[in-house]
Amino acid sequence: MRLAVVMIGLSLLTSCDTGTEQRDEVASTRTVQRPYVPVPPGVIPRGTAAQEAALAAPGPQVTPGLIARGEERFRAFCSPCHGLSGRGDGTVVSRGFPPPPSYHEERVKALSAEQIATVITEGRGRMFSYADRVLPEDRWAIAHYVKQLQAEGGTPMRQGEASP
Ligand code: HEC
Repeated sequence: MRLAVVMIGLSLLTSCDTGTEQRDEVASTRTVQRPYVPVPPGVIPRGTAAQEAALAAPGPQVTPGLIARGEERFRAFCSPCHGLSGRGDGTVVSRGFPPPPSYHEERVKALSAEQIATVITEGRGRMFSYADRVLPEDRWAIAHYVKQLQAEGGTPMRQGEASP
């Protein structure tokens, strides 16, 4: 038993950098680092152009598949505050977060799908941006789902499920 403890202790010791190794051994990771290459002017990081294209109006074609995707994403990212029906009565609000306006207020109903997608991208007032969590295509999907929710007066498409 004692021997085992000593062995473990020894193996831990030998795996540490004692500072006595040859410098070139210690520094060997440096050789795999890529050299610094300056970014030529006019270069756009990969993915940015694709993201902007995906966000550009009028956005993807509105299909039942897009709306269904929008509903699924809305439930995950928006309903905690906005509520399943969009009336601003989600669980987070019931625990003290300032209630968002109802989607069924005239002012919010007047927002276009593009404006809703922009709210997701940029945030608005106390609502923070969801740009790092919701993909550009999904922002359109959610926006169109919200427009449908507004048109239907707040009845979630999936029947038989209670509001959270
Ligand atoms: C953490 C709570 C929270 C979440 C989650 C949330 N929102 Fe909001 N939202 C708010 C609040 C609060 C406001 C009111 C902001 C203000 O005016 O200060 C708001 C406002 C809005 C508005 C109205 C903007 C206006 O012009 O008044 C829209 C549209 C909206 N949210 C859409 C969404 C969508 C779509 C999602 C999901 C991607 C989402 N929100 C997720 C809290 C939230």
